[in-house]
Amino acid sequence: MGGFGEWIKRKRFATAGHIGMLEGRLKDISGLLQETQQSVAETQQSVAEIRQSVAEIRQSVAETQQSVAETQQSVANTREAAQYIRRSVELGTITTGPPIQTGGVGRKTPEQWFDAHYWEAADHVLSFLAASELGIGGLEVADIGSGDGIIDLGLAIRGEPARFVGYDISPTDPDHLAHIAKAAGIDTLPANLRFVESTIDSIPAADESFDAVVTWSVFEHVSEPLAMLKEIRRILRPTGYLMLQLWPFYYSDHGGHLWLSHGGGFPHLLTPDDELVTSLKGKTGTDERRPADDEYLSLNRLTLNELGELMLSAGLKVVRAELMSETVNIPRELTDTPLADQLISGVKLLAVPSQP
Ligand SMILES: C[S@@+](CC[C@H](N)C(=O)[O-])C[C@H]1O[C@@H](n2cnc3c(N)ncnc32)[C@H](O)[C@@H]1O
Repeated sequence: MGGFGEWIKRKRFATAGHIGMLEGRLKDISGLLQETQQSVAETQQSVAEIRQSVAEIRQSVAETQQSVAETQQSVANTREAAQYIRRSVELGTITTGPPIQTGGVGRKTPEQWFDAHYWEAADHVLSFLAASELGIGGLEVADIGSGDGIIDLGLAIRGEPARFVGYDISPTDPDHLAHIAKAAGIDTLPANLRFVESTIDSIPAADESFDAVVTWSVFEHVSEPLAMLKEIRRILRPTGYLMLQLWPFYYSDHGGHLWLSHGGGFPHLLTPDDELVTSLKGKTGTDERRPADDEYLSLNRLTLNELGELMLSAGLKVVRAELMSETVNIPRELTDTPLADQLISGVKLLAVPSQP
């Protein structure tokens, strides 16, 4: 019995030990369970937060897409509006502002004048050439009638010719141009640009020394147009080209260059010359470098057809042409004038040397 009692005691003791161990394990397990529950709760919390941020990111992507779409739409609208304005100006249906490519029908501020020449006129030259897959990059280029030189500056910088020479019978003043350029943020005149005085019927340059000749708003003032066109032909290389813009033709609405003093409506064709010239005395011309009466008297009254014939006679063949025209009211007194001469206010021409 003593043996059995001993055995029971030992078993009890062992069982108590087991129970103690099991309790310890249970405690551990419940501790672990608590920690797991805590970490599950934390994970759930972070999942919820991640979901929230994903939702916010989605919302902000949607807003960005919406704002990109709105910006695209507004860029498209602006482009369309700009195109419409440009087209309307070219057609003359907007009369408060000038057709840019024509030199303008209102006195401009110095900033507007700079922009109209450095940017807009130069753009017209470059884009007219680009349409024929031509440019002036790396070429030797002459401008006939460089005036104040702003277009030349624009072409010399923006078109990147190897050499650009502006010729004028009333020579361009590089110091004055440098001053204008500085005001526009251009510190020095480019090294590829220079200006040379020419005469009414000659250009001081060697035969076939230029790849391209440009002339902008000049040919209605040229007193010896055939001689000048022959000079242009002479200085052009056989593979060269001439880009000539003329605005306004004399018999068109603004052909008298009188928009600052008399407005539109063909005033030069309705008023006797001597009366006009007297009324212009002491005034500045549309070209600020010139008195208004002198400017008026310089007009050679060429028509488009006459210009075309002179070009042919000079050995220049027109290969591309763009007319400028405006909607005009024609005074009853002028209904005898050929319609084409009244309606064609200007032209841009691309010509190449005809073979000798
Ligand atoms: C209306 S301005 C145009 C100047 C410049 N192209 C512009 O658009 O600002 C006309 C210029 O042509 C010049 N001109 C007139 N006849 C010329 C000729 N035969 N050769 C060179 N220039 C001439 C005038 O001296 C004047 O500077």
